[in-house]
Amino acid sequence: MRNIYILLGILFSVNAFAATPQELLKQYEVQAKQENAAFTGFSADAGASFFRTERAHSNGKQVSCATCHTSDPRNQGKTRANKVIEPMAPIVNAKRFTDPAKVEKWFGRNCKDVLERACTAKEKGDYIQFMLSVK
Ligand code: HEC
Repeated sequence: MRNIYILLGILFSVNAFAATPQELLKQYEVQAKQENAAFTGFSADAGASFFRTERAHSNGKQVSCATCHTSDPRNQGKTRANKVIEPMAPIVNAKRFTDPAKVEKWFGRNCKDVLERACTAKEKGDYIQFMLSVK
């Protein structure tokens, strides 16, 4: 928990309103190293599998990030209430991963929703790395 506040502190002090996905990745890298001294870097492949792998939720449903965002991040997704979600991949949606507060807010909400726990910095970094690898 403490690390999250440190990370938020860094994000807000360095970049109050805007950032690039690469800057966000740097901040998550700092945190990932704190979480695990053996951390060697983010992986787009790990991010892809994290994004698509379905997990058994305690509510009995099979869920993944792709449940709402679709398995192709270049596509529009849909919420459970059928509202459109703009694509996740920066190649088709340049607004993605440019607002640290928004990114942290939705990682918080969606990780809890899908994994029933917070995502690690490694998972967040892998996720962004995967999104950046989508051409
Ligand atoms: C229940 C539907 C749903 C699921 C499942 C879901 N998301 Fe999302 N996600 C949303 C919505 C809604 C938004 C906010 C609308 C938007 O940004 O277009 C969003 C936005 C995001 C953002 C904000 C990105 C940015 O820069 O704008 C991130 C990061 C994110 N989701 C990550 C995840 C991850 C990681 C998972 C899987 C662990 C996941 N989402 C699963 C619905 C979902």
